[in-house]
Amino acid sequence: MKPKPVYDNIVLIGFMGSGKTSVGKVLARKLYKKFMDVDTLIEAEQNSSVNDIFQNKKEEHFRILEQKCINELTQNTGQVIATGGGLPIYSSISKKSLIVYINADFDVILERLTTKERDKRPLLQNESEARALFEERKHIYEEQADFSVDANQSIPTFIHVIVDYILDQRVL
Ligand code: S3P
Repeated sequence: MKPKPVYDNIVLIGFMGSGKTSVGKVLARKLYKKFMDVDTLIEAEQNSSVNDIFQNKKEEHFRILEQKCINELTQNTGQVIATGGGLPIYSSISKKSLIVYINADFDVILERLTTKERDKRPLLQNESEARALFEERKHIYEEQADFSVDANQSIPTFIHVIVDYILDQRVL
């Protein structure tokens, strides 16, 4: 008899711009799972960009939307879910999620981001404040993760590392 799955979904966490969305899309394809992105779902539901939600309704409101979205998503199974960088800081994630931390250094993140990608992120506008936020959050990501992958390597290289790890786990 096949062993019962331990996890319903794979949830990617990590700082802004660490590559959760790009990695999540590839992982979902490789693992035959559905890809879901919390920020994209919130933007579609609110018909508003994250930037505009932060400006018009404030960050606290965005955090409420994030918690609601991850709660709803984790009612389902068989997904790779990319979260926004603040989600694991402010929201709880279902215990039945395999949480993977995309662990890249702040300077590597900055190098990878284009100006356009930086402009979309309200909390990445001031570099020294963003660096301080990174330092503040790093240990929280580490604490929450079931698996932390060194994301300072090239994206295709560390995707292989995650796939190998996940294939050894029992995920629906
Ligand atoms: C945030 C990260 C962003 C987005 C919002 C807030 C954060 O998502 O949810 O701008 O608090 O770290 P990405 O991690 O995809 O940039």
